[in-house]
Amino acid sequence: MKKTIAVIAGDGIGPEIVGEAVKVLKKVAEKFGHDFTFDEKLVGGAAYDAFGDCLPDDTLAACKGADAVLLGAVGGPKWDALPGPKRPEKRALLTLRKELGLFANLRPAKVWSALKDASPLRPDIIGEGLDLLVVRELTGGVYFGEHVRAADGQSALDKMPYSVPEIERIARTAFAAARTRRSHVTCVDKANVLETSRLWREVVQRLRDAEYADVELDFMYVDNAAMQLVRAPSRFDVILTENMFGDILSDEASQITGSIGMLPSASLRADGFGMYEPIHGSAPDIAGRGIANPLATILSAAMLLRHTFGLSAEADAVESAVGAVLARGARTPDIAKSGEKALSTTEMGAAVLAELDR
Ligand code: IPM
Ligand code: MG
Repeated sequence: MKKTIAVIAGDGIGPEIVGEAVKVLKKVAEKFGHDFTFDEKLVGGAAYDAFGDCLPDDTLAACKGADAVLLGAVGGPKWDALPGPKRPEKRALLTLRKELGLFANLRPAKVWSALKDASPLRPDIIGEGLDLLVVRELTGGVYFGEHVRAADGQSALDKMPYSVPEIERIARTAFAAARTRRSHVTCVDKANVLETSRLWREVVQRLRDAEYADVELDFMYVDNAAMQLVRAPSRFDVILTENMFGDILSDEASQITGSIGMLPSASLRADGFGMYEPIHGSAPDIAGRGIANPLATILSAAMLLRHTFGLSAEADAVESAVGAVLARGARTPDIAKSGEKALSTTEMGAAVLAELDR
């Protein structure tokens, strides 16, 4: 298979962790006989410093022209003073999502068996383990609705629009994902208050009855869902939700696994094109020290192979390699216990590469 991957490492630890994921993708290409080209571009604060724009035209064009995008992270204190629309998060991340049409955000949160004691939840709550998937709508709702400040500055308004087609397409993603898992979707909303939530309920129920009757569907208010995630997380398989609720719940879900440095994500378009990134940020406090955990980015590369390239054997190989190095005790500082020997970013990457060679 011949593919081009746009590589936008971004800021902070971005270049360090993306570097390891690219090595893994090169190893996969070599081992399975693929031809991957990597088109590296600047994004975020790094691009602002070079070109005065967190998302230069050239970077956006490279992402649009590629078969998939691998992103590290953007932002940092150096660019915090930029006006809202110019900041790395808004200008780079939100614009990339919108411009590339990435409406479906998959955020799996699982506890790896070798890292079971990393979770802050009690073992009896974790039980057999934790493995859920947040399917977050990514290009609609209040983050993309109208934002206005009244002329006198004394009131403000953010609109939360959703249309039936927008709800249907993300619901399809969730139902399809559930079929590959435990066939259970929980649609999270605030239907006791919000009209958009009532529309979500109608559309999701109708779609399930018409096309996904084999998938179990229930509905939960978002405040209750926030509580159940720490009280009984194993009741969830796929959480389907709108943009802002998904933003909040996916951070919560990541923390109950105990290791945000382990969690990948995919942002997808209907045709399978996608942008892949670790769910953690640019971690400016540890940037340049070679201690960041590259596994979330390596697992994001595995998601890229699976979801955009349809290479499931290759994705399985990467995920198994990660499981194997963890089982053998490989730990970066974020997942090491105190006193345990920790590997550097490149040592962890090398361990995964060596495992892929076995
Ligand atoms: C995320 C981030 C972004 C979001 C921010 C940086 C705009 O929190 O990817 O979850 O809210 O989508
Ligand atoms: Mg977030």
